Amino acid sequence: MSARTALITGGTSGIGRAAARALHDRGYRVAVTGRRQESVERAREELPDDVLVLRSDAGSLSDIDKVVSDIGEHFGTLTTLFLNAGVNRPMTLETFDESGYDEVFAVNTKGVFFTLAKALPLLSDGASVIVTVGIGATRSLTGSCVAAGSHGAMLAMIPTLALELAPRRIRINAVSPGMTDTPMTRASIRTSTEDVAGTMATMAEHNPFGRLATPEDIAGTVAFLASDDASYVTGQEIVVSGGAGLAI
Ligand SMILES: NC(=O)c1ccc[n+]([C@@H]2O[C@H](COP(=O)([O-])OP(=O)(O)OC[C@H]3O[C@@H](n4cnc5c(N)ncnc54)[C@H](OP(=O)(O)O)[C@@H]3O)[C@@H](O)[C@H]2O)c1
Repeated sequence: MSARTALITGGTSGIGRAAARALHDRGYRVAVTGRRQESVERAREELPDDVLVLRSDAGSLSDIDKVVSDIGEHFGTLTTLFLNAGVNRPMTLETFDESGYDEVFAVNTKGVFFTLAKALPLLSDGASVIVTVGIGATRSLTGSCVAAGSHGAMLAMIPTLALELAPRRIRINAVSPGMTDTPMTRASIRTSTEDVAGTMATMAEHNPFGRLATPEDIAGTVAFLASDDASYVTGQEIVVSGGAGLAI
């Protein structure tokens, strides 16, 4: 495919921003979205000048319509769609609240589904769609049951979506990060302890590779799934966790 183009939702920070850099380095024209004006402005300063940075709430259908229209104007078509925007509002059965639950599902599930549906006319035949899920969707992660359910819902949709998209050779796969050193991880830890660095060091010690993932670890797998090297891979989940989650 020539003129590779990528839209990355939640591309102003963490995993999405690393993926933006990785795809840009590989010659893609890249657009990213973020929700907060502050993160959008920071991404405009930090990402290469020709990366298009759009402010858009991934949980708002009208914002999704606007992004799709903007991408149509700027790129015409998309060869890669990385559906990565997500939120985690740590809560348990005892501490849950309805607005937090609704927000998590609005962004992580409904937003992902409708961004794919609305971007479909822009996707070129043979395009690659990648959805960020997470090992928490299928394994225990204390305090993240709602985020796990929201990502798990997308994971359950992927085989069916893969078959729906196959006639156009559009591939859809999930990338599932283990614990990754991003602002989201640090913010989640901060809800239960002030010792963020110490907690992260303990988590790293428990990882089979002895460290947490970097955003770049995940971005490398995203770049692989976007590439022609993965042209016969669809409907799959690739776990990028340094072996976390394998022990029984
Ligand atoms: N970090 C981990 O250990 C881990 C593990 C498994 C899965 N994940 C998943 O990986 C994805 C990326 O997370 P991350 O760790 O890289 O977190 P991050 O650094 O906090 O980045 C999240 C990105 O998503 C954007 N975002 C959040 N809500 C949005 C919304 N409503 N509309 C548009 N953009 C929105 C953020 O923009 P703003 O900053 O403007 O809000 C930011 O660009 C998420 O889906 C997360 O659930 C992360």
